Amino acid sequence: MLYLDYCGAMADAGELLGVRFMEIQLWRKLLSPYELAVRELVLKFEHIILEHQEQGLYSPIEQVSGREKSVSSILDKIQRKHIPMERLEEEVEDIAGIRIICQFEEDIDVVANLIQKRSDITIKSEKNYLKHIKQSGYRSYHLIVYYPVETIGGLRRLQAEIQIRTLAMNFWATIEHSLQYKYKGNMPPHVTERLSKAADAINSLDHEMSSVRSEIMDAQNSSKLQSNLVADILSNIENLYKVSTKREVMKIQDEFLRVYETKDLQKLERFHRQLDIIAEGYRAQSVPIRI
Ligand code: GTP
Ligand code: MG
Repeated sequence: MLYLDYCGAMADAGELLGVRFMEIQLWRKLLSPYELAVRELVLKFEHIILEHQEQGLYSPIEQVSGREKSVSSILDKIQRKHIPMERLEEEVEDIAGIRIICQFEEDIDVVANLIQKRSDITIKSEKNYLKHIKQSGYRSYHLIVYYPVETIGGLRRLQAEIQIRTLAMNFWATIEHSLQYKYKGNMPPHVTERLSKAADAINSLDHEMSSVRSEIMDAQNSSKLQSNLVADILSNIENLYKVSTKREVMKIQDEFLRVYETKDLQKLERFHRQLDIIAEGYRAQSVPIRI
């Protein structure tokens, strides 16, 4: 639908709770490209996790989730901020929302840099609630970005909000959000105070964890490296079954178990290389020779 038709259709719409409402099909039409943007972005960030795992690297992203804003939240927001319907898509910047969870506070910058370097995402603005902690105690790093999606109506450049925070920050924000919902903006002072203390505790927890970050990263790297190595070795042994004698494969398998039991990553890497050489030898033998 052309933008003007769309505004026209909205002008036909009635009045609900003081806010112009649209027919449900129009809401669907409005939200559909945002749903696509959320799905694409989540997939892309999940792939970043996967690429790190495949390469045995520590991933600065722990989890990613996304949602498109519900109609009732959109209505709440345009009412609260007096946003006219025809400016909805410009002014409600978080119709598409992505949340990226990191293990450590340092990872947040790494993720922000990753996003900045991408050619498919353009940063419009940032809100750094890590440097400027909110009155409530809320900490998080927010980016408003432009992201293009292809629809049957053509290319759309949509806005999305990306929130980046640690597991600990997310824990606090989730609880605080539920309490805000429960008290509907009238949180009793003793609850606010408790939450503020909890926010301080979360802050120092993040700092404590940062001090052991490199050790944890090393431990996670080597455990991932080990599981990648083992998977590779096992698939090599499986392939050897097809080309070698059973006796030789059994011998290699016993040797693998012996090396594995030492829990020595370097020995496992050496074994992996040797196995590669053996497999390469068989591959060379099996290359058909043309005369
Ligand atoms: P909203 O109208 O709430 O979207 O605020 P805004 O457009 O002024 O942006 P802001 O950066 O303040 O908030 C964006 C989002 O961050 C919110 O929708 C929440 O998801 C989250 N957020 C911001 N402040 C808080 C807070 O104090 N507590 C919690 N739990 N979440 C918050
Ligand atoms: Mg918001």
